[in-house]
Amino acid sequence: MTKDANIPEGFHLPEQRFFGRRKGKPLSGRQQSLMDDFLPTISIAIPAQDEQELDPLALFDGRVDDIWLEIGFGKGEHLAWQADHHRSVGIIGCEPYLNGVVGLLNHIEDTDTSNIRIYGDDARHVIWKLPDASVSRVFLLHPDPWPKMRHARRRFVNRHNLDDLARIMKDGAELRIGTDHPVYREWTMVQMSLRDDFEWQAEGPEDWLTRPDDWPETRYEIKALEGRATYFRYQRRPRS
Ligand SMILES: C[S@@+](CC[C@H](N)C(=O)[O-])C[C@H]1O[C@@H](n2cnc3c(N)ncnc32)[C@H](O)[C@@H]1O
Repeated sequence: MTKDANIPEGFHLPEQRFFGRRKGKPLSGRQQSLMDDFLPTISIAIPAQDEQELDPLALFDGRVDDIWLEIGFGKGEHLAWQADHHRSVGIIGCEPYLNGVVGLLNHIEDTDTSNIRIYGDDARHVIWKLPDASVSRVFLLHPDPWPKMRHARRRFVNRHNLDDLARIMKDGAELRIGTDHPVYREWTMVQMSLRDDFEWQAEGPEDWLTRPDDWPETRYEIKALEGRATYFRYQRRPRS
């Protein structure tokens, strides 16, 4: 069983390891000061007690009217773009890779955005604490594919995580999943086809093979394209 101070009692999932390394190159002096001085001003603390929820609007001091979530933002270029283009939306970004967090801090400085909050660890800690129907859009862009079958249980797209996302997403909210990996593409299609709480938004055969204008390329997509990228958009079906 997972044992972690941030994981509320009652949430017992089998041991899962979703992410790889947490640290890459040593940080420069400037990067270290971004981490030490700037990050604490926009980072999210998970409420300790079991029954306490995270109030997402309060994280932004009431200055936003909607909440989006990006899981595994990498170096943060997509998240920064979305925040810059949707200033009335508060975007929560989760990423355990420290050099990625620094990358996003750089983008925030460049774009002068104030509508981003960061959790530097497993996105599930945040998801578990968010209230029902509180999020309007979720981005999961190029999740680690874990292509070997024996690692399939590490894939972020799985029944437990989709149940949790369905819970926190508002009726009509959008879940965007991008992948360039053929194994993950097929896996995602199968997992999503088993759900009755999400509806695939593809209107035609080219739809999911064409990057929407408001879906900027991520660093991973530019660097590591293994095949043709796919852009899945699912709508959270209204609760009956
Ligand atoms: C292949 S990278 C893609 C990064 C970025 N989305 C992009 O497209 O450039 C996958 C990222 O997901 C992060 N990740 C994996 N599991 C995660 C989890 N449970 N919560 C938050 N981030 C996670 C990893 O640290 C890694 O940076």
